[in-house]
Amino acid sequence: MSASRPAAVIVLAAGEGTRMKSRTSKVLHELGGRSMLGHVLAAAGELDPERLVVVVGHRREQVVEHLAGHAPAAEPVVQERQGGTGHAVRTVLEQVGPLSGTVVVTNGDHPLLRGETLARLVRTHEDEGNAVTVLTTEMPDATGYGRIMRGADGAVTSIIEHKDADDAQRAVREINVGMYAFDGALLGDALKRVTTDNANGEEYLTDVVAILRGDGHRAGAFLTPDWVETQGVNDKVQLAQARRQLNDRVLEAHMRAGVTIVDPATTWIDVQVTAEPDAVVRPGTQLHGATHLGEGAEVGPGCTLTDTRVGADATVVNAVCVGAEIGPEASVGPYAYLRPGTRLARKAKAGTYVEMKNAEVGEGSKVPHLTYVGDAEIGEGCNIGASSVFVNYDGVNKHRSVVGDHVKIGSDNMIVAPVEIGDGAYTAAGSVIVSDVPPGAMAVARARQRNIAGWTERRLAGTKSAEAARRAREAGADGAGEGAG
Ligand code: UD1
Ligand code: CA
Repeated sequence: MSASRPAAVIVLAAGEGTRMKSRTSKVLHELGGRSMLGHVLAAAGELDPERLVVVVGHRREQVVEHLAGHAPAAEPVVQERQGGTGHAVRTVLEQVGPLSGTVVVTNGDHPLLRGETLARLVRTHEDEGNAVTVLTTEMPDATGYGRIMRGADGAVTSIIEHKDADDAQRAVREINVGMYAFDGALLGDALKRVTTDNANGEEYLTDVVAILRGDGHRAGAFLTPDWVETQGVNDKVQLAQARRQLNDRVLEAHMRAGVTIVDPATTWIDVQVTAEPDAVVRPGTQLHGATHLGEGAEVGPGCTLTDTRVGADATVVNAVCVGAEIGPEASVGPYAYLRPGTRLARKAKAGTYVEMKNAEVGEGSKVPHLTYVGDAEIGEGCNIGASSVFVNYDGVNKHRSVVGDHVKIGSDNMIVAPVEIGDGAYTAAGSVIVSDVPPGAMAVARARQRNIAGWTERRLAGTKSAEAARRAREAGADGAGEGAG
């Protein structure tokens, strides 16, 4: 049976998160290309709830701003004082009004939890007709978690927080993950009866279980065997562990879909990255944001790609690319930096120590070595000589250069924008191109060479250079070429 659409998902994210020791709100710490809260909201979003409410408190400006930017459908509700998880949910119901139907509540600090697991919680809740259903698991180390108490018949009777538990209760390994499905119609009244009579002096949401049971309602549990995905994050050690686990999950999915990952231990891939079969990811590579790898594309070693599309059978080696589009069979690196707006067409090349920004490079065109291409359009079949710069900035404004098809730019050229170089034109090595070059012309824009004979011997007498010059002169006087080799 498929679960119905919940009336609301309430995400608890008002806590202080002291153990993170950070000026950033705990739930905004990042893993796998999203904030912790972002992961929770993505999982919650899979339930397609009618309302998605996020309880905010500590550092709420940060959280509210984050929601506006990343999850505009989420409604923040302010909890002025953090009176406990029960108080947080009570605050929501007071502000948004009564909710009927299924209400899901989840902690905001469980980034690994999958939407599918939440959906199974909701399904169990509805299939069993429970007033409350708790997501539980058996933790190898249950320290700190609320323990699930069951009666002789196995039914859930209450949740006892670690701090309030006696030794026998602490021996229970089944714990409260911090996710619940409630009957919304019963929740509000039960919350009003929650007390602060406990070790923390807080209103515990978990007390609702015993209250509803006391009223004669059914309480149930959905026990998930995968405790790894249920782990909460309270400090940066747990954050790193969660990040590693999430990464393992992402890499595994890619490998099962046909992507070769040579060294999973040094490869980091964000959750939104997509890749086609036979893509190869070599060691030390990080793929971020909306990066996409085409079929047979080879990336790495040592690449960091953000929001970059890599075409089929392209190769990218030791490169940093941000917002770039790399065409099929194109080649990038080693040691290249492609910045936003770079577009390499099929078989184009951005080689070694090459930086590009806002640049289009046409089919088969090559920029092989030591070159900066900024704000430029290069046609097809061109070659840009080593050590050239597309000079795009006059100190105030940026200008564009346009290079036609089959143009050969000599080595060490300065292409001073705005300038246009026509189809089939050539430029001489060492040129500073400040005006347009017509199609088919050869532009030479450098001083003519002049040799000052005998300069070294006159000016630098006694040096090894002067000695060598003298020997060459004398050898030449004895008869040029003789005895050479
Ligand atoms: C809670 C559960 C515990 C469970 C554990 C799982 C209670 C009383 N205990 O304990 O049974 O095993 O989660 O991780 O619920 N929050 C608010 N407002 C508040 C207090 C907390 O929004 O006033 C938020 C926090 O930001 C956090 C979540 O609620 O996202 C849980 O709060 P936390 O203090 O971490 O609860 P735990 O002690 O971990
Ligand atoms: Ca917690």
